[in-house]
Amino acid sequence: MKVVIIIPTYNEKGNIERIVPITEDVFKRINNYEMEILVTDDNSPDGTAEKVIELSKKYKNIELSSGMRHGLGAAYVRGMTYAIEKMGADIVFEMDADLQHDPEKIPNFLAKIDEGNDMVIGTRYSEGGSIPAAWPIHRKIFSIFGNLLIRTIMMRFWLHDWTGGFRALKKEVFLKEKDELTEFKGYTFQVSFLHKAVRDGFKIAEVPFHFGERNIGDSKIAPMSYIANVLKYVITARIKELVFGKFGKFMVVGGFGFVINAVVLRALVEGFNFAPVPANLIGAACAIFSNFNFNNLWTFGERKANTVISYFSKLIQFYATSAFGVIFIQTGTIFLGDTFIGRQYYFIYFLVGTGVLLTWNFTMYSVVIWRKSRR
Ligand code: GDD
Ligand code: MN
Repeated sequence: MKVVIIIPTYNEKGNIERIVPITEDVFKRINNYEMEILVTDDNSPDGTAEKVIELSKKYKNIELSSGMRHGLGAAYVRGMTYAIEKMGADIVFEMDADLQHDPEKIPNFLAKIDEGNDMVIGTRYSEGGSIPAAWPIHRKIFSIFGNLLIRTIMMRFWLHDWTGGFRALKKEVFLKEKDELTEFKGYTFQVSFLHKAVRDGFKIAEVPFHFGERNIGDSKIAPMSYIANVLKYVITARIKELVFGKFGKFMVVGGFGFVINAVVLRALVEGFNFAPVPANLIGAACAIFSNFNFNNLWTFGERKANTVISYFSKLIQFYATSAFGVIFIQTGTIFLGDTFIGRQYYFIYFLVGTGVLLTWNFTMYSVVIWRKSRR
């Protein structure tokens, strides 16, 4: 199996001559993989490429890919394509040139790949990881809270570092996501790549590491536009996921249920002289039955009941959840507002109660009734 460590560079002459020998030393301790280095340089004016060519005379496992400068993400897309197509890589690494990512950690990443993971993320924000102690306090706060904010928006708390650039991945992950990695060409590439990999169910593990200080040269990141792009990505990605994902289907199913409830109510009251209360109970029961079946077949189709027993067990849980939600959550909110605030805002209590009810229902459906089966 071949592993290619991709090091993107822009004006890193001083760093590349330091990091290559260190990385080559680490390679000596790795026996079960064929290890190579690919430097993806964007015609750095400081002569980084010439330095790489010089190093490749001493070390036979180094290649250089030169191109136009279109940002870090574009350099990685080009590098990964080159590593897989031209060098025959099975696994590729992302690693900064400036030694902020310690090459000594490479074997830890490979150990996680050996355990069967598809992608391994270096993390600065979990047990065993860190950011430089010498950073000024505002930079630390920014880094920690920025990352926490992204994790919260992404709602996948088990992944601790979404923006870092110290990673290993099987070529299958890149080949699957490649076509979608064109939107953000800069540093935002990292968060978007990880998001697509999680979305598609790749197995992801973490390796904590200490993020070092840069001693030579300057950072290439433009903080303000970077922050704006990351936020833009995570927010739009999550909205799309919610609208077109399970939550969107759940809302469509619920909307259809509402129509059924309303039609049955009116038909019974106006056509069959029912009193409104029993008419609505029948209408609601019909709506819940419709909601159950569409959610079972469509929203949670891949986790649907496949035996008669599980069908009825889910159906009963569904009625219980719905009844609890309407009586205690939705009506309860109206009751509390009416009692403690005042009747004049009753419709607002209804709207708030309905919002909480939807959240309750969706949560119960996804984590209890149609919970993912543990394999
Ligand atoms: N080829 C190429 N083209 N390389 C680039 C470009 C580019 O446009 N921009 C940056 N690089 C290279 C740098 O030369 C360096 O080797 C590496 O990418 C990281 O760049 P830095 O400029 O050192 O980034 P940083 O330390 O400020 O940013 C850190 O935090 C980011 C956000 O969490 C890094 O760890 C990034 O990997 C991380 O995404
Ligand atoms: Mn850096």
